[in-house]
Amino acid sequence: APVSPTGVGYEGPRTGRDPRGQAGDVLTTPNGVPLPDTDHSLKAGPRGPVLLEDFHLREKIMHFDHERIPERVVHARGAGAHGVFTAYGTAGKLTRAAVLAEKGLETPVFVRFSTVLGSRGSADTVRDTRGFATKFYTKEGTWDLVGNNIPVFFIQDAIKFPDVIHAGKPHPDREIPQAQSAHDTFWDFVTLHTEATHHTIWNMSDRGIPRSFRTMEGFGVHTFRLVNADRQTCLVKFHWKPKLGVHSLTWEEAQLAAGFDPDFHRRDLYDSIENGAFPEWELGVQVFPDTPEETFEGIDLLDPTKMVPEELAPVQPIGKLVLNANPTNFFAETEQVAFHTGHLVAGIEGTNDPLLQGRNFSYLDTQLTRLGGPNFTQIPINRPHAPVNDMTRDGFHQHAVHTGQAPYTPNSVDDGSPFPAEWADAAYIQVPRKVSGEVGRTAPASFDDHYSQAALFYASLTSIEQQHIADAYTFELGKCYEQSIKERGLAVLAKIDTDLCAQVAAGLGLPAPAPEPVEPGALSPALRQ
Ligand code: HEM
Repeated sequence: APVSPTGVGYEGPRTGRDPRGQAGDVLTTPNGVPLPDTDHSLKAGPRGPVLLEDFHLREKIMHFDHERIPERVVHARGAGAHGVFTAYGTAGKLTRAAVLAEKGLETPVFVRFSTVLGSRGSADTVRDTRGFATKFYTKEGTWDLVGNNIPVFFIQDAIKFPDVIHAGKPHPDREIPQAQSAHDTFWDFVTLHTEATHHTIWNMSDRGIPRSFRTMEGFGVHTFRLVNADRQTCLVKFHWKPKLGVHSLTWEEAQLAAGFDPDFHRRDLYDSIENGAFPEWELGVQVFPDTPEETFEGIDLLDPTKMVPEELAPVQPIGKLVLNANPTNFFAETEQVAFHTGHLVAGIEGTNDPLLQGRNFSYLDTQLTRLGGPNFTQIPINRPHAPVNDMTRDGFHQHAVHTGQAPYTPNSVDDGSPFPAEWADAAYIQVPRKVSGEVGRTAPASFDDHYSQAALFYASLTSIEQQHIADAYTFELGKCYEQSIKERGLAVLAKIDTDLCAQVAAGLGLPAPAPEPVEPGALSPALRQ
């Protein structure tokens, strides 16, 4: 094979070997021409002018000028790590997906943790939801579990996602983040769209300011459908439980950390892995019968603002995640990784949760822009660890050298059947399900309960945790300029807990509205006593 001047063996385009290893003894141009000097522009005499014919200068600066890609429209700030997921085998009866079912099977993963609203350079310890996205490179294709550290979401329908994010992002005129300073639009949104009440109270709790990525829980949020080898199904919710337990910062600690070390969480993740203190989580599932109603103990499993208390459905451990290697290159791995809720493998299906279904559209769409075209599954961090034999062609940043003449099926030109009989079991085939209903922009009546689980969450906390919540609402609502928004905030709190509402009202110097707390929901009467 020909050898490049960099010393990196170049074996031709079909081998997949990358000649741009940046590892040779000699500095070269991007086209492999050895360079004598990269510190001085080509000039007419030592005092110039610089000559247009200095192609190396132009090429070097052109590349630098285009180093940035768009940051993620949400979850722009993040940190990632590689690891291994080991299945316990306890999910063997629930799903045929080997990644979960096969006892002892080790699957490589890449995990990215993130904040939601801040830009790439924002501080780690702000009050926000945290992303917890896991790419499982399974031998049966890639599975992404794109979750958060809070088990519920702000909205019940993806059609509102642009709106809730716009309400929380910086003001268009002064670019000041709503969630940290001028708060009116965020609080306006969550008090008008009261389905956001449950997620918001989790944000106002200590869960909104984690101590470390290593001490966060993770949740798939939506209900998923598992399918076993006999084509039997169940509904599940995924939970990540950190081995170190759940820990948060106090508000004062978070403020100090943001000032002293805006990279507090990123540094903590990197350093712990570097020092061999590998972060660990256990993956568990809450399992529910797959009934036509898709409810459990009266809780609508398609409503992403509702969780199922663990007292009603214990989390059953099914595997272990260990993060044991830092990225070699932040851009190549953490920045270019592309998660997608539609990346599922046989044995794992989505449900009709309208939030999940909108996400299935959104991620692919945004990545088309963010990663510059349709071929981003070829970027090393996104490459499946299973053989790929798709029928795509061409497009920006195409790296594959496709062979064969007939990218369609069936065909009588190329060899082989694309669907050999022995692969029938491995194929992704949806479980048949009946679909019916009248077309309309409607939602189930159960989606109208916006308060009972927020009240349940508050009631479940210790008094110091409740105090932190009262302090957080007082601080955050206190940042609003509009009195009517503060008053609406208090009206929401009046439904959650009378004392909480009274404390926040006193802190804001406003009268407390008449108490009208709802019954904390979703616990059986026995557990409620
Ligand atoms: C990014 C979680 C709802 C659109 C992310 C990321 C996470 C996440 C963890 C960061 C992925 C990464 O690290 O690269 C969630 C959860 C949701 C939710 C748990 C609700 C349960 C939505 C909805 C939409 C949406 C409803 C849109 C309809 C996006 C977009 C990105 C993103 C566009 C950026 C993706 C990229 O540029 O690669 N989400 N999200 N998300 N999410 Fe969501």
